[in-house]
Amino acid sequence: MTVLIHGSPIAVDDVGRGEPIVFLHAFPLNRRMWQAQTAALAGTHRVLAPDLRGFGDSVGSPPVATMDAYADDVAALLDALDVREPVTLCGLSMGGYVALAFFARHRDRLSRLILCDTRADADTPEKIAGRNTTAQEVLQNGAESLVQKMPSSLLSERTIAESPNIVAAVREMIAEAPPASIAAALQGMAARPDRTDLLPQIDVPTLVLCGEEDAISPVAVMRTLADSIPNAIFATIPLAGHLAPVENAESVNGAIRRFLDGAA
Ligand code: MLT
Repeated sequence: MTVLIHGSPIAVDDVGRGEPIVFLHAFPLNRRMWQAQTAALAGTHRVLAPDLRGFGDSVGSPPVATMDAYADDVAALLDALDVREPVTLCGLSMGGYVALAFFARHRDRLSRLILCDTRADADTPEKIAGRNTTAQEVLQNGAESLVQKMPSSLLSERTIAESPNIVAAVREMIAEAPPASIAAALQGMAARPDRTDLLPQIDVPTLVLCGEEDAISPVAVMRTLADSIPNAIFATIPLAGHLAPVENAESVNGAIRRFLDGAA
């Protein structure tokens, strides 16, 4: 389904009935990365998985797509879909940056948080420079260089060696992302604030998940993040890199299910 949000179409999977859970995808992917979680939870929950502005079927992106703007899109989407009760919000990597922005801006709409393979700190100057270079490169030449090089940082070595279907699906999502949307998200991520000080203020039940071989938000970084959130539950996901929900859906789904059932 597509809903008009702040003047632009936002595509969203909206399946199942029950307590709402919202999934926010990584950069530069789209809502298809949550297919296994949607299938696993739709029998008991209302599962909402949007394409963030500019990605997937949500066409059109501003020149800079801030994490705050994505978070405000999610809040407006909940209004448009008449979701009035607080939601569980699950974000991976860039989706996690958006989830933290959502906590900062729309706390009253949250019942729980799930932070997957993400970080609370801001970019270093080197990282910002790298994002600028990538944005220019993609605007000039298209996303092919990302299609080629990103799977090796997003996925574990084992996934790359043994799961060509996952590698192909990730490549396909990256290839579909419009260069302007990629550049806008890169600028938005580069501009995001350090949210470290927000972590001790998180007062909703929180689950922190990290693929054991995540090279982008490694286990040590995520363990520190989890330690800063009062009463957060931390779990590592075996046989997975940065895209743990795609690489080891069974383990991630089990952890989410136990958390939702209150027995994590
Ligand atoms: C992602 O998976 O969303 C990206 O790795 C986030 C980032 O580039 O910081």
